[in-house]
Amino acid sequence: METKILKIEEDNIDKKIISAAGEIIRAGGLVAFPTETVYGLGGDGLNRESSRKIYAAKGRPSDNPLIIHICEFEDIKELTETVPEEAQRLAEAFWPGPLTIILPKSDKVPMETTGGLDTVAIRMPSNPVALAFIRAAGGFVAAPSANTSGRPSPTLAKHVAEDLYGKIDMILDGGAVGIGLESTIVDLSGNIPVILRPGYITKDMLEKILGEVEVDGTILDAESGQAPKAPGMKYKHYAPKAELTIVSGTADKVRDKINGLTNQAISDGYKAGVIATQETRDGYISQNVKIAGKRWDEEAIARHLYEILREFDEEDIDYIYSESFEGSELGQAIMNRLLKAAGHNIIEAD
Ligand code: TXA
Ligand code: MG
Repeated sequence: METKILKIEEDNIDKKIISAAGEIIRAGGLVAFPTETVYGLGGDGLNRESSRKIYAAKGRPSDNPLIIHICEFEDIKELTETVPEEAQRLAEAFWPGPLTIILPKSDKVPMETTGGLDTVAIRMPSNPVALAFIRAAGGFVAAPSANTSGRPSPTLAKHVAEDLYGKIDMILDGGAVGIGLESTIVDLSGNIPVILRPGYITKDMLEKILGEVEVDGTILDAESGQAPKAPGMKYKHYAPKAELTIVSGTADKVRDKINGLTNQAISDGYKAGVIATQETRDGYISQNVKIAGKRWDEEAIARHLYEILREFDEEDIDYIYSESFEGSELGQAIMNRLLKAAGHNIIEAD
């Protein structure tokens, strides 16, 4: 299949392109589109065949449910029988935006879309291209991140093309995404709201609206042996080809440790790269240091992380050593993704 790649501007949306993209979805095809978090791979969320196609294009296990993207709050009523007051309040505070809400699903939502679950994940993105596209597509666009399963999520249209060219009908190229990490997922299907995936909307922000909010224990403790409640969180996601090691500790010790590891890798005949910050870059001996951003600027670090992992893939790096980014709550979302990319390989510099 030939994949059409069309440029589209957020502040001057070409209606012809959007209606062509919407038409593809209505006819059961697949279109990748920009959102404020990462690029999504869209199909008709109410059409079981479209969901099957999405799994096939991504090479994704079919027990890993998809998020249905809507463009108007009212449309949530088609996807769930009763809309709890908490969902209403969250939507008022954070929609359109980088928050996904899990609710019991209505009969309209096919089991193929929810990976066999009786709940459904719903999000209204804020990206204007995404909203126009969802409307043109009929209002219910199922979309996982538009990467091959196991690769870092795409933050540029060229990342989508790298993974999915020839496998989908169209890519809407809306330029670089704003956030760079997938949406926060909060599960409202139980008694207490639970965060299943951390993201730009933090626990603090959710608690201001909802009161007490829990965090799925497996996010904090990978060794707990329990299965995460968001099926997708169990896979080693976001993985670069290189072996990634995170080094934590004070800046000086991290630098010395990473330089020691780099020397070792080079003398063994391997290529090594480093993920660092503006402030620390000059301390590394590696020829290949990538800067995620300034240390205080977690939004920049979030935005660049996946792109950096993909760049290392292209350069055939064998070992990546990364500084650690715990800190504020966005820092925790960054660390959550980095730890998964590293297969939880983190060492303390001493
Ligand atoms: O920011 C985002 O959320 C992006 C953009 C495209 O909107 N989408 C995205 O989708 O990250 P995906 O499929 O890559 O990740 C969705 C996650 C998976 O971990 C999946 O297991 C979980 O959401 N999920 C979906 N439906 C669920 C449900 N009913 N119950 C629990 N987890 C669910
Ligand atoms: Mg994904």
